[in-house]
Amino acid sequence: MNLKIKDFLSITDLKKEELLFVLKTAKDFKSGKLKADSLKEKSVAMIFEKPSTRTRLSFQTAIYELGGQPINLNSTEMQLSRGETVHDTAKVISRYVHAITLRTFEHSRVVELAKHATVPVINALSDFEHPCQILADLQTMEEKTGLQGIKAVFVGDGDNNVTNSFIFACAILGIPLTVACPKKYSPKKAVIEKARSLSKNMGLSITDDPKAAVKDADVIYTDVWISMGMEKESAERKKAFMPFQVNSKLMSYAGESNYIIMHDLPAHRGEEITDEIIDGPHSVVFDEAENRKHAQKAILHLLMTRNINKR
Ligand code: CP
Ligand code: NVA
Repeated sequence: MNLKIKDFLSITDLKKEELLFVLKTAKDFKSGKLKADSLKEKSVAMIFEKPSTRTRLSFQTAIYELGGQPINLNSTEMQLSRGETVHDTAKVISRYVHAITLRTFEHSRVVELAKHATVPVINALSDFEHPCQILADLQTMEEKTGLQGIKAVFVGDGDNNVTNSFIFACAILGIPLTVACPKKYSPKKAVIEKARSLSKNMGLSITDDPKAAVKDADVIYTDVWISMGMEKESAERKKAFMPFQVNSKLMSYAGESNYIIMHDLPAHRGEEITDEIIDGPHSVVFDEAENRKHAQKAILHLLMTRNINKR
């Protein structure tokens, strides 16, 4: 299968069959069945406007294992920080490298970069989406619970980048999803509408009752209450989200099933999740972290082979 996209900015860039194909490619990279040097003698510029541990390292190692050279760039050390436009930056960088990843604030910046770059651009997290994370999460779910006949629940901030991408992914794959969040932090109307447009009979429900939500869940996902850039809202958010903490008490409502606990990390232990849960037998958080590398290898490989000879 050939991906029809130049860039990977949103999980919704992939249709269901394409998404499953990316996951199959990631699985084959992980098992060693697939080896590729699709980045041989090629470079990938990785621009970070926000901190990162997993995304930085998983891209760096994935690029190296595909035979390429990662170039790690902090935006504060680039002319971007002195006002050079994203437009000009995109055009210039495209003359040197074969792909670009960007971690940024406003999603419009990664869209602008992709518009003017002649090479593939990958969203390494924006305020609106974190599609690479969700690829790794889906790979983990496929390994642990399968992707069919499962019920997923997101507990916590219903209105952040990870939640948005997870909502879209569940809609694309037809996975019933309940988002349990304080009313004030519910998914945006536009996100719900977009998810509905991806799947006619999408099983998305939103509730402010986390105990009812986790009952019989196969997948329970949480993320930080205070995403990067929201630090000013810290006190207000901590108060609002406390009833949504993923802890033993809440998990006692999940039943005895083989559910998995997911978190994209970094976790704020003692806030959205407690030690006994993140370190407990249901937790798959470090598998998710590992799968970042395999999933990103897959998307890089497929974008590079799709765009080969296009420069
Ligand atoms: N999950 C994730 O993107 O982690 P980093 O912020 O460390 O890259
Ligand atoms: N929602 C989090 C994800 C971190 C990987 C944030 O944006 O900070």
